[in-house]
Amino acid sequence: MAHKNTALKPRALWASRLGFILAAAGSAVGLGNIWKFPYIAGENGGGAFVLVYLLCIAFVGLPIMMAELMIGRHTRKDAVGAFVALEPKRRWWHTPGWISVAAAFLISSYYSVVAGWTLDYVFRAIMDSFSGESASAIEGMFSALLADGGRQSFWHLIFMLLCLGVVVGGVQKGIERWSKILMPILLVLLTLLFVNGMLSSGARQGLEFMFRPDFAKLTPGSVLEALGHAFFTLSLGMAAMITYGSYLSRNENLFAASTRVALLDTTIALMAGLAIFPIVFSVGLEAAAGPGLIFQTIPVVFSQIGGGHVLSIMFFLLLAFAALTSNISLLEAQIAYFIDERGWSRKKATLTIGILAFSVGIPTALSYNVMDGITFIGERSFFDSADLIASNYLLPIAGLLIAIYVGWFWSGSEEKEELVSGGAWVYPVWHWLIRYVAPLAVALVLYFKIDEAGLWAYLAHLFGGGA
Ligand code: PFF
Repeated sequence: MAHKNTALKPRALWASRLGFILAAAGSAVGLGNIWKFPYIAGENGGGAFVLVYLLCIAFVGLPIMMAELMIGRHTRKDAVGAFVALEPKRRWWHTPGWISVAAAFLISSYYSVVAGWTLDYVFRAIMDSFSGESASAIEGMFSALLADGGRQSFWHLIFMLLCLGVVVGGVQKGIERWSKILMPILLVLLTLLFVNGMLSSGARQGLEFMFRPDFAKLTPGSVLEALGHAFFTLSLGMAAMITYGSYLSRNENLFAASTRVALLDTTIALMAGLAIFPIVFSVGLEAAAGPGLIFQTIPVVFSQIGGGHVLSIMFFLLLAFAALTSNISLLEAQIAYFIDERGWSRKKATLTIGILAFSVGIPTALSYNVMDGITFIGERSFFDSADLIASNYLLPIAGLLIAIYVGWFWSGSEEKEELVSGGAWVYPVWHWLIRYVAPLAVALVLYFKIDEAGLWAYLAHLFGGGA
């Protein structure tokens, strides 16, 4: 394995605590918070779901996030190199590193396509394309975008170039600098949209939709959904937090920093829901699920309310910025591998990853047009198959292995050293959670995800040779 010139250079570190928190929160806060969380909360029983979700963040997500940051900070390496450094002999334990970098690669390819849609909508919002149009014309704009592979590829390229422009600058001058600019803007935009939502006539209905607990709607499936989402939203299992942890100073209180990141992530998800639903209800529309909520319902709302033009620009910029800081972390997780393990320059690594992730994103951009009807896993398009592999399998498998490794195999004294600044109670509580609670919870998610995809039946069929 080539470690060439990397041993000579001191590792780049975040310049400040705030820089790390904003960069890590930037990774965590993404399309998952602003688009997905609000509608899955609404669908799964509002307040009851939010409660379960908060528990999942606190007792499963946060401990795994701490574990990933600890692994990174302790080894000062990329996700693959970190496991190689921790376990030079038991090579089996390198697996989670590889899986998480592979997941980062796959997700960065299609995340950029969806982020490209948000850029397309920023552009449409600036051009004031929604005002004066009928609801069906606005809804048709999204179908037209999906049917246009060239347009999607164009915005995918622009988005990827923006991300690469940030990561090529390095840890402090690229990621940290831009997180310090974009995250405060994101917070201001979201706060304005949130206040707008709370002042609208649908505020009450929106609050009820998100928070009134309807335990009848809370099925075992929703609990799994909450767990899976807690994982995705905190950017776990995708090498991002290991990599960001590797740039974290040893003097930093890792527990306090992780808690802040998780709190910011959760607060922003809740605020996003309260920015969106009240205005949807204020014009008497349904809170649709899926891409339709953001790309069809919301523009219709903006075309009908006062100040809609400015609000729509703010809203889509918010989404684009959130996606940008998330995709940066996915790219950095891969770039760090080539820099640390292969001795590549940052420029070469950035360019290579950029070209690869962009190319693999193209079939996603073509999924609903040129490649319509071409299926990969089951009846799924390329996009859905890539998402299925990454979010449903790679991510929980990596998370499970990380929890098992850290909970059962990593040296307790090294772990204690990483957590000592958090206070005496932190290590025992965290250790118990990461040893028992987190692996069990993630294993459960994984089991049901596999079940959902019909894989158990498929395997039984394969090995049972029967019906
Ligand atoms: N946490 C991001 C979101 O909620 O949209 C998605 C994400 C980014 C997942 C980076 C994983 C990751 F490494």
